[in-house]
Amino acid sequence: MGEKIAVIGTGYVGLVSGACFAEIGHRVVCADVDEGKIERLRAADIPIYEPGLDHLVRRNLGSGRLRFTADIDTAVRDADIVYVAVGTPGLDSGAVDLSQVSQAVRQIAAHLNGYKIIVIKSTVPVGTFRFVEQTVKEAAGENARFDVVSNPEFLREGSAIRDSFHPDRIVIGATSDTAARRIARVHESMGTEVLFVDPESAELIKYASNAFLAAKISFINEMANVCEKTGADIALVARGMGMDRRIGPYFLQAGIGYGGSCFPKDTKAQLHVAKKLGCDMKILQAAIEVNERQRLLFADKVARALDGSVKDRIVAVMGLAFKPNTDDVREAPALDIIRVLRQSGAQMRAYDPVATEKAGLHLPGVCLYSDPYEAISGADAMVVCTEWDQVKNMDLHEVKRRLRTPVVVDGRNVFEPKLMVQLGFRYHSVGRKNVQEEYAGIV
Ligand code: UDX
Repeated sequence: MGEKIAVIGTGYVGLVSGACFAEIGHRVVCADVDEGKIERLRAADIPIYEPGLDHLVRRNLGSGRLRFTADIDTAVRDADIVYVAVGTPGLDSGAVDLSQVSQAVRQIAAHLNGYKIIVIKSTVPVGTFRFVEQTVKEAAGENARFDVVSNPEFLREGSAIRDSFHPDRIVIGATSDTAARRIARVHESMGTEVLFVDPESAELIKYASNAFLAAKISFINEMANVCEKTGADIALVARGMGMDRRIGPYFLQAGIGYGGSCFPKDTKAQLHVAKKLGCDMKILQAAIEVNERQRLLFADKVARALDGSVKDRIVAVMGLAFKPNTDDVREAPALDIIRVLRQSGAQMRAYDPVATEKAGLHLPGVCLYSDPYEAISGADAMVVCTEWDQVKNMDLHEVKRRLRTPVVVDGRNVFEPKLMVQLGFRYHSVGRKNVQEEYAGIV
């Protein structure tokens, strides 16, 4: 028999978690203050692009295990376990805006009609568990019956469903053993290893993981810049490094750096929290700076590929989403790169298979295309910013025919340098030797 679960917040994490909990047999109601969104969700109209999510939602709506409501109070009263999955946006200072968490928790406290477990799923800085516990106590009284559990989410956009059903680990931070074990049982059918820790460690595991992965990406990007000066190939360097089991082969893909709703925000938040605690996280600071610089270096590379200036040149950017299989453009490298090139006088075009609508709001004056070949027709350069299959699998002969000048600047290293030169392109990528010189003889 499944649990009666309420999930507050139908953003990425809330929606995916709610649908997955329903799929494994729990009775789930997802609640949100946004009535329009709830209406759409009731009709299985999913506001985000996430492969497989619409089927999952439709199936579980059909079975009756998943419901959507704008009546948060009733959702809380009817549930035994309440997940808080509201947004925690970053502020300019790097601090996290916890107002939605605070609001949700007060609302839960106002409707504690019996023992409930309040699970914090939103990404929150260390110390939030204690803040939530205290807030509920103050609002609901000393005799209120509840436990708080910290259960951070590690899913990646684009593979969120798979990640939810097959996570590498489930982290549960609690002060009550009973509550911790009950939350572990919610995930039992996944067969994943559960790590039981104190609440502060749970909160830090999430930030430490994201910070470490961000640092790994910035490290490989710095190595890529060194490779370019030496004739080495970053793909081979990364492969050789990754064969060492202590390093591992993942997150060593050089390119234009990380974006998205998590890494940029979470790294800055962790830095902010650490500073407030009197800890100066130098590696994390550098990882953030390297990531910001990597986009600018790439914009420079585009200019160099066009003989030093993009002024009045037509540049087609392929891919706007911060990574493939999502329409999320938050902190996407492509947006910054487009802005810089536009400021330098380029006429910008952009293609993305799913993100043009969301990106369009941030890109005034940029012509947007949903067909990759139309985007490059007559352009002076094709610039790859997201490694979509639709870009990787383009017919390169057709690309060559359509471009006005055969310049390809590849920010995700999706094409084979030797082949590109053989096909007659002036091809530039990240951290790989200048193929023009290397293969000049065989063209
Ligand atoms: C990330 C974490 O992976 C996830 O555990 C956490 O819950 C949320 O943040 P997500 O932002 O969805 O997930 O995407 P991820 O696949 O981690 O990629 C983040 C960014 O890093 C993307 O812009 C991607 O292009 C970039 N990246 C990733 C690289 O540049 N190189 C790599 O080797 C890996």
